[in-house]
Amino acid sequence: MSDQISLRKAEHLDLALRMSDEVSGSAGWSDIHLVHQALPSIDADMIDISTMMLGRHLSFPLIIPGMTGGHPGAVEVNRLLASSAEKFGVAIGVGSQRAALEYPELTRSYAIVREEAPTAFVVGNIGISQLISYLDEGLMDRHVETLIEMIGADALAVHLNFLEEVVQPEGQTRARGALNALAAFVEASPVPVIAKETGGGLSVEVARTLRDIGVSMLDVGGRGGTSFAAIEAERSRARGDHRRSELGAALATWGIPTAVSVRACSDVLPTIAVGGVRSGVDAAKSIALGAVAAGVGRPLMQCATQGEDAVLDWLSGFQLQLRSAMFLAGAHQVMDLASTTRVVLGTTGDWFRQLGLS
Ligand SMILES: Cc1cc2nc3c(=O)[nH]c(=O)nc-3n(C[C@H](O)[C@H](O)[C@H](O)COP(=O)(O)O)c2cc1C
Repeated sequence: MSDQISLRKAEHLDLALRMSDEVSGSAGWSDIHLVHQALPSIDADMIDISTMMLGRHLSFPLIIPGMTGGHPGAVEVNRLLASSAEKFGVAIGVGSQRAALEYPELTRSYAIVREEAPTAFVVGNIGISQLISYLDEGLMDRHVETLIEMIGADALAVHLNFLEEVVQPEGQTRARGALNALAAFVEASPVPVIAKETGGGLSVEVARTLRDIGVSMLDVGGRGGTSFAAIEAERSRARGDHRRSELGAALATWGIPTAVSVRACSDVLPTIAVGGVRSGVDAAKSIALGAVAAGVGRPLMQCATQGEDAVLDWLSGFQLQLRSAMFLAGAHQVMDLASTTRVVLGTTGDWFRQLGLS
């Protein structure tokens, strides 16, 4: 069984690296325009790109969202991403820790993140489906403690990934009791809980429900970036499961575009923009829509497979892009982005109008 989980994690990594954003449709960034301000009042290098997230300082508003752990190849990838997060003063998450809860011999592939990032904001990770079983089995308190201890977690993320589960050959679609289980998890956790989607986006209705049970922060995991429906479709295809493969293809563009989900959720709870964020300019747009920070998954994972220089180079570029966008939009500090003038065009504008978003 530990082999099965490890194999699935390794397959996710491999397939994600080979996929492109096109399969999932647009995240909406190309429809969002920050109105250019031709006469900035301070120098570009005076722009302050630092920010606060859940009471902690980030050198710039970026989180490397939870992606991996639980298989041998994850040690090196997590080591590299974590040491880069530490160097740059940004936040980092680990992939689902379920594998290590069930097979403690896999702990190192997660613990390496805290070893390499002793002062970074580190986020743990577990799936909503697992929480239902933990509550049933009376294991909630003990597992919350282990998740935190394993990586010295500053926050715990719970992924809501039913879009992936419906397509996954071995997917778990039991959802009754999920909200109760999440509420019990929040209750048991001494650190803030972040609810995260993984490609389907969060609606305002779900955001309100999550707020009402005490969730501290949202990671919208919107449509437009890595598509787990497409990844699971590919895994199903390789196993000869045509029905699920076709289901995954049919659902590849399912979900709320990240830009729309950020706008919908950020009035409810502090929100991280994740899903198809590909540059510091996208991140600036997401913050203008209300996000407190942005998360970048696959591009950083791709860099990590090329080595440390590639990750550091990518992060430096992102910083420069964010700073430049702020300079040109007239924002001196990250929080100023929320009050810059913006225009929302095209399909994203239609989503905004039909959902009553401004
Ligand atoms: C290889 C890979 C593995 C992932 N594993 C997890 C996971 O275990 N738990 C989770 O909450 N999200 C997981 N994610 C989702 C990411 O946290 C993020 O939501 C997603 O990659 C969207 O961002 P992107 O479009 O920038 O890649 C994974 C993503 C990738 C690429």
